[in-house]
Amino acid sequence: MCGIVGYVGHRDVRSVLLKGLGSLEYRGYDSAGVAWIEGGDLRLVRCKGKLDGLEDRLRGHCASTDGIGVGHTRWATHGEPNEVNAHPHIDCTGSLVVVHNGIIENYYTLRRCLLDEGHTFRSSTDTEVIAHLIEKYLTDGRDLIQAVRRALFDVRGSYALAVMWKGAPDRLVAVRRQSPLILGVGGDEAFLASDIPALLPYTRDLVFMEDGDMAILSRGGIRFFSLETGEPVDRVSHTISWDASMAEKAGYKHFMLKEIYEQPQAVLNTFLGRIKPGVSDITLPEIDLSFDVIKGLNRIIFLACGTSWHAGLVARYWIEKWVGIPVEVELASEFRYRHPILNDKVLVVPISQSGETADTLAGIRMVKAMGSPVLSICNVVGSTITREADATIYTHAGPEIGVASTKAFTSQLAALFILGLYLSKIRGTIARDELATKIDALAGLPGLLEGYLTLWHKEAMGLADEFYKKQDFLFLGRGFMFPIALEGALKLKEISYIHAEGYAAGEMKHGPIALIDRDMPVVALAPMDHVYEKMISNIEEVRSRRGIVIAFGEDGDTRLAEMAKYVVSVPRPSDGDINPFLYVVPLQLMAYEIAAARGCDVDQPRNLAKSVTVE
Ligand code: G6P
Repeated sequence: MCGIVGYVGHRDVRSVLLKGLGSLEYRGYDSAGVAWIEGGDLRLVRCKGKLDGLEDRLRGHCASTDGIGVGHTRWATHGEPNEVNAHPHIDCTGSLVVVHNGIIENYYTLRRCLLDEGHTFRSSTDTEVIAHLIEKYLTDGRDLIQAVRRALFDVRGSYALAVMWKGAPDRLVAVRRQSPLILGVGGDEAFLASDIPALLPYTRDLVFMEDGDMAILSRGGIRFFSLETGEPVDRVSHTISWDASMAEKAGYKHFMLKEIYEQPQAVLNTFLGRIKPGVSDITLPEIDLSFDVIKGLNRIIFLACGTSWHAGLVARYWIEKWVGIPVEVELASEFRYRHPILNDKVLVVPISQSGETADTLAGIRMVKAMGSPVLSICNVVGSTITREADATIYTHAGPEIGVASTKAFTSQLAALFILGLYLSKIRGTIARDELATKIDALAGLPGLLEGYLTLWHKEAMGLADEFYKKQDFLFLGRGFMFPIALEGALKLKEISYIHAEGYAAGEMKHGPIALIDRDMPVVALAPMDHVYEKMISNIEEVRSRRGIVIAFGEDGDTRLAEMAKYVVSVPRPSDGDINPFLYVVPLQLMAYEIAAARGCDVDQPRNLAKSVTVE
């Protein structure tokens, strides 16, 4: 989704804005722009396409030593991606600009009224109405903050907004309603951005704006007000542990590759301090539920989108087996419009990397109103989902920049694995030695992944050479390898634009088998578990239709080696329940190498956004 940056302070404003927009590129965008005030004049530079184009256009302008400005990367919703529709948007007088992330639902009506009142529109975006509305209320004699407030009373929809006016050249106004906006606190400077990486080079003291907050940013600091009442509100800053180097590529060609290689560390960070391998114990102090409440639960609902939904699907297998409690895994975009039956005995667990996904957030609001406890699993400290949930298990995976989620997924799996074991321990559904085996298996996982990453990467390169020109792929798995097949297919289609389908292998006969011929690569996930023989039969069915079998199976599985055209070896873990972690990583590497071989923009795939903050 769109990225916003803003700055007031002593630095060269254009380089702060460009650098900030650069670190938000991963959110996905199709045009970009910046505006700043120089010598009392408002300057505006925008262009279609990537930031290089914007940088070229800015080259003629010399650097200044101080400044105030806003910048934006646009992911088009209303109006095609071109220069005129790029933000910042300007009012009729040319003295006020706004940058916006979100959707103005009643923009058409507002636009019609403003046109009748004599305003001239330049773009076909919903955002431009905000600039004109503020202009209208400024001419009524209000000051900037009052005019912004009044304008937003007319607006329906979601917004993270930054406003700059040359009539008040020492301040920016920021407002948040249902779209994330984070403020960075400096000594005599202040920053705003849609996401943390844009702020990390300057400060780690951040304030996460809450819904309905307005803020005035100036060199003297940041002041907060309620949009509704106009009264001052107190907001505290959080010092975060991430640093700027964590949001850099560190020599890797793409963020996605770096993040794939970071998975041993990400998984370790998730379980550190929560499992105690020597004494086979597990603690989750962040779960603020009494043992009686945990024992009384009669259902768990995972709520998520995209890759995070796949993490929930995997965890269902673990939790039903270990805890013996029914688990539902819901797509938040569907769930929010259903009529679920909930009560205080149903634990709702939203899973989200960003903590800002609009549908997941809407689902949380719905279930809270029905009295269910909400325990989120999230990567971004202080994000909206963590603030609205009753409690959060943080994954501590560090910033994930690649649009296609990798380390966030495996760290979500680690958090869910721990959650499942914790619940089974409290409810007494797991034997002590079984708990010990699983804790030890998780503790050994970073080492196993570390040992195989280079080998898998080499194999992925070989597979990419062979398959990068294919147009279709089928991924098959059974049990918790089914959601891993879904995730493998999702990774491939997201970044390589190859059509890929994940399927439960047992369902193959009910449809996808019709697609299999000598051109169709079929990825079969076949660990030696309780459904191994069934998987072998499915592989036979693919072979008899001449499909090209790429099997992912256990090291030393000679039967698989005889049947499949290509085999990727995965180590046999001490406990088979950690197989989902081990099979997804080589699938990520295969998708990455195929996309790279096709020359795709791996970190910023077309049309996709890292964090989907609108419906
Ligand atoms: C987008 C991203 C995916 C992510 C999904 C859910 O589609 O591109 O990588 O899995 O949103 O995001 P969340 O931040 O809630 O996990």
